[in-house]
Amino acid sequence: MMATIDLYAVFGYPIDHSLSPDIHVRFATETGQSIRYDRRAVTLDEFADAVTGFVEQGGKGLNCTVPLKEAAYTVSDHTSPRAQRARAVNTLLVCPDGQLYGDNTDGSGLVRDLTLNLSVSLSGKNILLIGAGGASRGILLPLLEQQPARLLLTNRTLARAEQLAAEFADFACIEVQPLATLRGTGFDLILNATSASLSSDLPELPEGIVAPGCLCYDLAYGSQPTAFVEWGLRAGADKSVDGIGMLVEQAADAFELWRGIRPQTAGVITWLRNRGRGSGGGSWESGLLPAANGHF
Ligand code: ATR
Repeated sequence: MMATIDLYAVFGYPIDHSLSPDIHVRFATETGQSIRYDRRAVTLDEFADAVTGFVEQGGKGLNCTVPLKEAAYTVSDHTSPRAQRARAVNTLLVCPDGQLYGDNTDGSGLVRDLTLNLSVSLSGKNILLIGAGGASRGILLPLLEQQPARLLLTNRTLARAEQLAAEFADFACIEVQPLATLRGTGFDLILNATSASLSSDLPELPEGIVAPGCLCYDLAYGSQPTAFVEWGLRAGADKSVDGIGMLVEQAADAFELWRGIRPQTAGVITWLRNRGRGSGGGSWESGLLPAANGHF
């Protein structure tokens, strides 16, 4: 009798850009697992039925990306504390009884990339988080758990930042200020969690916010350095990087939840970076890509 191969998939819309199938197939190969990982275009309206169909088909786990993360939270029967705090789910595990367990690995993926791959300790640091959409919501709690000295949240539409800070007020004090008022205030870590990079755009960043040794980090990524990554380099950041590492780390957390084994990530990050900058083909080459997290 042929061994059955466990089925996983990423749902989102659009989905052609998604690198998740490449990443998970590579994890599976390296850990000796037999899996099939599909990429399926699913709109918000189709989502609930698509999940039911996937479970009936014997699917074991799902990644959900834009615009489905809040809906994935809603369809979950059980959720992790971090998913509850984000009110968004990027990873669904189909339990043996068919119930859905929802987790959010975006923030932990970011923190792992920062602390392990980039060797940046967040404890006692001054962090500027730009953006108040779904991406920021997903990473706030894991960032705060690292106990930075200060986390300042800013956004083009300040009221959204104030609303988000209020939601986390019982956990930590998050300062909110307009970007323009930050001129001359240095930060150790500046995170771009806006979707501006996806249209080669840049938030209006004032001068003097890059402290000595600062890391600039764009949660988005593309085949070329994003506008924010380039800005960070021009502004004198020690390092300025895109979100490929976060993408791979959040996938590794999902893979571990599904398969009970932690894949190595360094080789996959290097492989994706080389592939993106090289002459190879594929959707990776087609310009700026939405980060698979929730950010995006
Ligand atoms: P996501 O789930 O990807 O975070 P979102 O909820 O639509 O998407 O949020 C997008 C974020 O990027 C918002 O913070 C948005 O700012 P506004 O709240 O003012 O709309 C921010 N954003 C998008 N384009 C931007 C730009 N060109 N400059 C600055 N901020 C931008």
